[in-house]
Amino acid sequence: MSKTPAEMTDIKMTWTPLASEIAREAGARLREFFAEGVATEYKGDVDLVTVADRTVEKLIRTRLGEVFPQHGIYGEEGTRERMEQEFRWYVDPLDGTTNFAHGFPQFCVSMGLEQRGPGLTAEEDGTIVAAVIYDPMRDELFTAERGRGASVNGKPLHASKTAALAESLVATGFPSRKRHQSPNIHFYHEFTLRSHGVRRAGSAALDLAYVAAGRLEAFWEFNLNPWDTAAGVLLVTEAGGRVSDFAGGNFKLESQEVLATNGLIHDEMVALFQDLFAGRDLAPIPSAQEFAAMRELRAKGLE
Ligand code: IPD
Ligand code: CA
Ligand code: CA
Repeated sequence: MSKTPAEMTDIKMTWTPLASEIAREAGARLREFFAEGVATEYKGDVDLVTVADRTVEKLIRTRLGEVFPQHGIYGEEGTRERMEQEFRWYVDPLDGTTNFAHGFPQFCVSMGLEQRGPGLTAEEDGTIVAAVIYDPMRDELFTAERGRGASVNGKPLHASKTAALAESLVATGFPSRKRHQSPNIHFYHEFTLRSHGVRRAGSAALDLAYVAAGRLEAFWEFNLNPWDTAAGVLLVTEAGGRVSDFAGGNFKLESQEVLATNGLIHDEMVALFQDLFAGRDLAPIPSAQEFAAMRELRAKGLE
């Protein structure tokens, strides 16, 4: 029997409260592992994984299965369950593994819920309808439901009102796989010279939550996966910000390009991305060799 609108609303109302309980439980487990210290393994190159990533993904998978038995789950550590279902959770049990493994307290649990209408191909995105990101070290719980705004520990979130990149604090991240193929250091350089600074804190989901919270004006990264971005992009848009690819086109979960801003500096950042891709208007800095030569002259008192 189909549900009445009131019943549908009731179900919707339970997504973030129930998922928040799971995220808090997962975060508490991460806190324990963090305090004990865990051994690190390599998934590849410098791509780290720990027993905490696997244990917490299992915990979330079990708990989501109990609470939302009709929902699918797509997790970073390999969970693929009920992928044919209308609703699908993208789960990153530990976003910021490198930080975690080094005892650097910046990491989180990220869970984003996508609703996939009938007839979508595997390549097409549905709509992200709910988001929960939990930072267990600061006890900050970021939540959003589509059309109902975003909040942190129950307080409404609003993207910042800064309207110029030159007055902005922005953030990015670098991949741990195929590092030699990433051009991002060039973007890091250019944005550093054109803003108040670029942070690389090591958790993409928290970076997105911070754009939603107005603590950062923007965040971009190449090659992220749906479990990194699903929850954070909804937080940003529900807080009044904007999310796109680097050309200003629609953001897609698998597009491996995310540019999230407070909305006000979005066009300026997209224009700069276009300039940088075209090699236009680059800000010059001395090469290491040029700098070494100047340094030598200075040491000899010849400058
Ligand atoms: C990583 C973090 C990091 C980002 C990497 C991600 P993980 O996720 O979000 O900030 O720069 O690209 O892979 O591996 O710690 O879950
Ligand atoms: Ca991640
Ligand atoms: Ca992870």
